Amino acid sequence: MNPEIAAVTGMLHDLYYYRTGIGDNHAHNGAEYARPMLRDLEIFTEQEQKLILSAIFHHSDKKNIHGEYDELLKDADVMQHFLYNTKFDIYENDAKRLKNLFHEFNLNNLSVYDFNFEKKNGFTAKGINKRQALAKIAETLAKREIVGEEYDEDYNKIVKYWPEVNCHEELKYSWCAAFIYHCCFEAGFKLPIRHPNSDRYVGVLGWFQWASLPEVGFYIEDSEDFVPERGDIIVYNNIIPKEYKQANDILPRDHIGIVLSSDKGTYTVAEGNVDNQNKAGVVTRKLHENVDGFIRICNDYEYMGWKYDYKTGVYKE
Ligand SMILES: [Fe+2]
Repeated sequence: MNPEIAAVTGMLHDLYYYRTGIGDNHAHNGAEYARPMLRDLEIFTEQEQKLILSAIFHHSDKKNIHGEYDELLKDADVMQHFLYNTKFDIYENDAKRLKNLFHEFNLNNLSVYDFNFEKKNGFTAKGINKRQALAKIAETLAKREIVGEEYDEDYNKIVKYWPEVNCHEELKYSWCAAFIYHCCFEAGFKLPIRHPNSDRYVGVLGWFQWASLPEVGFYIEDSEDFVPERGDIIVYNNIIPKEYKQANDILPRDHIGIVLSSDKGTYTVAEGNVDNQNKAGVVTRKLHENVDGFIRICNDYEYMGWKYDYKTGVYKE
């Protein structure tokens, strides 16, 4: 194995966590964060980039076995946790790896049995209606009329998941999907910044592609008799006002919001960057007008990232 590649995986593996402080899905987000960086550095071959990114992507999945660099990084990770502070609890899967490592390195005077195993916590998301929470959070934030500028504290919370340096500039006037992502995250739908088989959730396309995946299946095309529920995500077509685009542009799926209610010919929707005004708000939209479809996330949906192989994107049923 190439020690330099191995060292790079070690240095970068918790990158997303260091940058954002967000631990959920940080392995998958770390791979997605490092991906354009490694590509643009132009010092790694495509094959090397895949090896590094795959190791970062899989490093939290200590239960399963992946490629040799993936496994090396996982071993290094548990060893580091153990050596960093021996008072930390040890997860059951880590303990197995540690035992093997002690044996491999002839560290027979160390024993994992002197340390505590993971304490099971009793929290369960069962019974929590996350879609209701999603609507509540979106409504509260939208009513604050957040402005898409660096000085707005709420706005900074919305864009904190997208750690690229020029994030504020790039997202100005285009943060409707970032607003949805933040509300989902707060409601307990912990998605990575990009699903392995779709675009990033920072754009409307990412939401559409993800919801349309056969293994997800949340996309509902709009039709005359479809009545959305509070907490559904609404995807619009061609709704960006004319003055913000070329005269004859028809833009499919150019905006997104969260449905609060629907009756008497209208929907009430919480949105970020309403009408491209760089502000959040609660708006009234006409039924079926400029509507492409809806995403109704299952209340018990969980991102099943560990079922994806990074190098191939293949989903293991
Ligand atoms: Fe990690």
